[in-house]
Amino acid sequence: MTTEDLPARFPPGFVWGAATAAYQIEGAVTEDGRGPSIWDTFCAEPGRVAEGHSGAVACDHYHRVSEDVELLRGLGVRAYRFSVAWPRVLPEGRGRVEPRGLAFYDRLVDELLAAGIEPWATLYHWDLPQALGDAGGWPQRDTASRFADYAATVQTALGDRVRHWLTINEPWCAAFLGYASGDHAPGLRDDAAAVQAAHHLLLGHGLAAAAIHAGDPSAQVGIVLNTYPVQPATDRPEDVDAARRIDGLQNRLFMDPVLTGAYPADVLEDLSAVSDLAHIRDGDLDVIAHPTDLLGLNYYSSYVVQAQADAPQGPSSWSGSPHVGVVDRGLPRTQMGWDVDPDGLRRSLVRVAADYPGVPLYVTENGSAYPDSVVDGAVDDPERTTFLLDHLAAVADALDEGVDVRGYFVWSLMDNFEWAYGYTRRFGVVHVDYDTQVRTPKASAAAYRAVVAANPAVG
Ligand code: FCB
Repeated sequence: MTTEDLPARFPPGFVWGAATAAYQIEGAVTEDGRGPSIWDTFCAEPGRVAEGHSGAVACDHYHRVSEDVELLRGLGVRAYRFSVAWPRVLPEGRGRVEPRGLAFYDRLVDELLAAGIEPWATLYHWDLPQALGDAGGWPQRDTASRFADYAATVQTALGDRVRHWLTINEPWCAAFLGYASGDHAPGLRDDAAAVQAAHHLLLGHGLAAAAIHAGDPSAQVGIVLNTYPVQPATDRPEDVDAARRIDGLQNRLFMDPVLTGAYPADVLEDLSAVSDLAHIRDGDLDVIAHPTDLLGLNYYSSYVVQAQADAPQGPSSWSGSPHVGVVDRGLPRTQMGWDVDPDGLRRSLVRVAADYPGVPLYVTENGSAYPDSVVDGAVDDPERTTFLLDHLAAVADALDEGVDVRGYFVWSLMDNFEWAYGYTRRFGVVHVDYDTQVRTPKASAAAYRAVVAANPAVG
């Protein structure tokens, strides 16, 4: 795959972007009145994050906004997906607004627009204010209402310039990695709490989407889901059922309520093994199904699964679905250990478009971790470059099949704090030297820039 034949496969006006998240890049965690988040707390607990790393400094983006907007300009992207840190705006999670926190995003938005880059704001990328964590976090229904209040606050401050809003990033991770497997903050291992968290994250999405539309009926609002294709290893009924259960937990549990206004009955039945589901109240599904303008899909890999009595708990805890094993397909893997399956991105887009028609799709994250180093001032990253181009080709294949996919955001603009892996995994198309904070665009950045530059900007 070369860059030459790719641009012509995308329509004029396709949104080319890059993505980051607040806790992964900003640093400055005690500055300008920011309150602590559950990730600050989690990082401080021994053994939670690789090498005891934390987001305390990260890429020092908080102090380098102009330099980082220059990086985006250098890439030629037309959109930047960043997240707003809730504890910067509302240090206690509710009530008192911290103007210095809002001022930071205000400046970021202005600098982006001055550079001709459209701001896409994610409101929740996992950094729940610790005060709300102390009050019980996402398993508590009240957190959803607090999230809607916060969304309205940010919309009021930035809505004259921000047209695109993403409510919650990957509620599956926030719920199941945060509360069931314990791999992410707050590090609980409680399946019932995770199931409650999933519902309240969805409720928060619906309430926030309505709040944003109340402030600006023309705002483009959506949620970001990590939809991964799940296929059975064989057509044995037990393998088919394993795939049904995992697809249900990973994909349909989130897509169905948001896009059809109902939970899938089979998934609720599976989940009833770990939860009484009493937290789902009348009317909630109407709130969750608030009409959205777009859907963000994050894609990294796909799964082939089989029924397996002795399987350990699935990757990242598939609550309610024990005895499912992941099949080794012999595919190449990234440094995360994730199978490289570009066609899985096509399958994901095609499936979502077929099962949930009518909503414009955006790939809001896609990328890969490989170890990189700077040699003579340059970073050659052939594996990431190939990964990127192959996945762009998969998006083009989906377009060829008629899928309404309107944009692509590479994860990530720059190397950053990769959650429980700390700084041991590099996803950036720009390299970051964490000792000096020097940024060096990698070869993959040049490849991406070439594709973007060759595709006409206006539709
Ligand atoms: C996604 C997250 C993002 C990043 C990538 C690698 O699940 O949304 O923050 O960590 O994985």
